Amino acid sequence: MHAVHKIALGLLAAAAVATASDVVQLKKDTFDEFVKTNDIVLAEFFAPWCGHCKALAPEYEEAATSLKEKDIRLAKVDCTEEQDLCQQHGVEGYPTLKVFRGLDNVTPYKGQRKAAAITSYMIKQSLPAVSLLTKDTLEDFKKADKVVIVAYFDASDKASNETFSKVAEKLRDNYPFGASNDAALAEAEGVTAPAIVLYKEFDEGKSVFTDKFDVEAIEKFTKTAATPLIGEVGPETYSDYMSAGIPLAYIFAETPEERKELSDAIKPIAEAHRGAINFATIDAKAFGAHANNLNLKADKFPAFAIQETVKNQKFPFDQEKEITHDAIKAFVDDFVSGKVEPSIKSEPIPETQEGPVIVVVAKNYNDIVLDDTKDVLIEFYAPWCGHCKALAPKYEELAALYGKSEFKDKVVIAKVDATANDIPDEVQGFPTIKLYPAGAKNEAVTYSGSRTVDDLIKFIAENGKYKASVSEDDEEPSAAPAATETKASEAAKETHDEL
Ligand SMILES: *[C@@H]1O[C@H](CO)[C@@H](O)[C@H](O)[C@H]1NC(C)=O
Repeated sequence: MHAVHKIALGLLAAAAVATASDVVQLKKDTFDEFVKTNDIVLAEFFAPWCGHCKALAPEYEEAATSLKEKDIRLAKVDCTEEQDLCQQHGVEGYPTLKVFRGLDNVTPYKGQRKAAAITSYMIKQSLPAVSLLTKDTLEDFKKADKVVIVAYFDASDKASNETFSKVAEKLRDNYPFGASNDAALAEAEGVTAPAIVLYKEFDEGKSVFTDKFDVEAIEKFTKTAATPLIGEVGPETYSDYMSAGIPLAYIFAETPEERKELSDAIKPIAEAHRGAINFATIDAKAFGAHANNLNLKADKFPAFAIQETVKNQKFPFDQEKEITHDAIKAFVDDFVSGKVEPSIKSEPIPETQEGPVIVVVAKNYNDIVLDDTKDVLIEFYAPWCGHCKALAPKYEELAALYGKSEFKDKVVIAKVDATANDIPDEVQGFPTIKLYPAGAKNEAVTYSGSRTVDDLIKFIAENGKYKASVSEDDEEPSAAPAATETKASEAAKETHDEL
C-alpha cells in the first residue's frame, strides 16, 4: 500500500514536471512558424534512445526556464518522428543543437552542454554583436568575461565602425565586443581613436591595437592577445588551441605547483615565440591519457610535446630527458628550424590480411588508401566505439560481396583503428567512413547515409570511379540517420577525462 502510494506520487510529480516544461517540442508543421515568430531560438535535434540526449535533457530544461523571461526560446525535435525535418536541417548525429535567428540565419551551437553554459551562451547570442559603451558602462563591461574587446573610434568614423563590427560578428561566440565614440573615455584608457583595447584577466591585463583597422589584422591581434602566454589546455580551451592555426606546445605535469614551476622556466621561450607557437600546461592527473595522442607515454610526467595543429603532426620531447629551460629552448629552436622529425604512431603492418576487410595502419596508409588504381572505402574506428561494433558484421559482409565480385581488384573495403595510428584525415567522430576514388584521391567523399550494406553499395557505385555495384542477398530495412560517437563521449565512460 505504502509503496503503491509512493509510486503514484512519483508519477504525479513526473507528470507535473512534464507539463511544466519550457522546452517546446516542434514538428514539421510547427517548426517554421515557431522559428519565424521568435527572435532567437535554440533547437535540439534528438533521438529518444541517444544517451547524450538523455544527459542533456535536464540541463536543457533548466536553461529553457531561465532563458524564457529573456525571450530566448528552447525547442526540440524528435528525429525518429520527424525524419524529413531533421534531414532538411542537415542533422547527422545526436544531439545536434542549432541557433536560429529566423530560418535564414542558422549557426551551430558551440557551447558546453550544461545549463549554465547554455544560458550564458544564448544570452551572448541575443546581445548585439557590439555593445555601445559609455563611461558609465565600460567598467562593468570589462568584467563581463575573462577577455573583452573594446574599440574606440569617432562617431563619424564609419569605416572603423564597420570593420570592427565585422570582426565582432565573426567572433561573437568567443568574446564580448564593445565600442565607444567618447574621445575622453579613450584618453582615460590611454589610447587615441581609432584604437582597440583587449582587456584580460591574466598576463599584462590588457593589449592595445593601434594599426589600421582591417578585419584580418584585428582578428589576428585578438587571437594572439586573448591567448595567455602560457595558458591551460582543458575541455573549454582545447578546440580554440586546435583551431588557432599555429602549433601548440604542451607542458604536462601532475600538480599545480609543478605546472607553475615549469611555466616559469619556459616563459621566456613562450615570449620569444608569441603568436607563432602557443604554450599551455595540461593537468596530467586529469588528462594524462591525452599524452598518448601526442605519442608520449602516458605514465611518465612531467612531459613536453609540440603538436603541429594544421597537419596534426606530433613532436614529443624525449621523456628520458629532464625538462629544463635550456633543453626545451634547444628543442623548440630545432622544431622551428625544421630539424625535428614528426613522430608517427602506427600499429605494425599486418603480415597477412586475414579477413575480407583490409586492415590499414599508419605505415601502409598511403600504399593502400592512396592507391590510384582503386576505389578505397575506409572506416575510421575506435576500439571502444559501440556504433563501430554494430557496423562490423555489415562491413564484413560488404567487403565479402566485393571480394567475390568482378570488382575484387578494383574496390577495396578497409578499416583503420584511428586511436592507434596517426592518419592524415581529421576524424570528428567514430565511425567515419570515406571513399577515396581511383584517379581522384584528393576528392575523398565522406559517407553520411544509414549504415546498411545496401546503402554503402549505392554510395560506392555513385562515387567510385568504377561505379561498382554488387547485389546483396538479403533485404535490409533502411535506418534513420546514423549517429557517431565523439572522443568526448568517451569521457563519461572513463575515470580519466578525454579532451
Ligand atoms: C556604429 O554604427 C552603428 C550603426 O550606424 C551605430 O548605431 C553605432 O553607434 C556606431 N558605434 C559607435 C561606437 O559610434
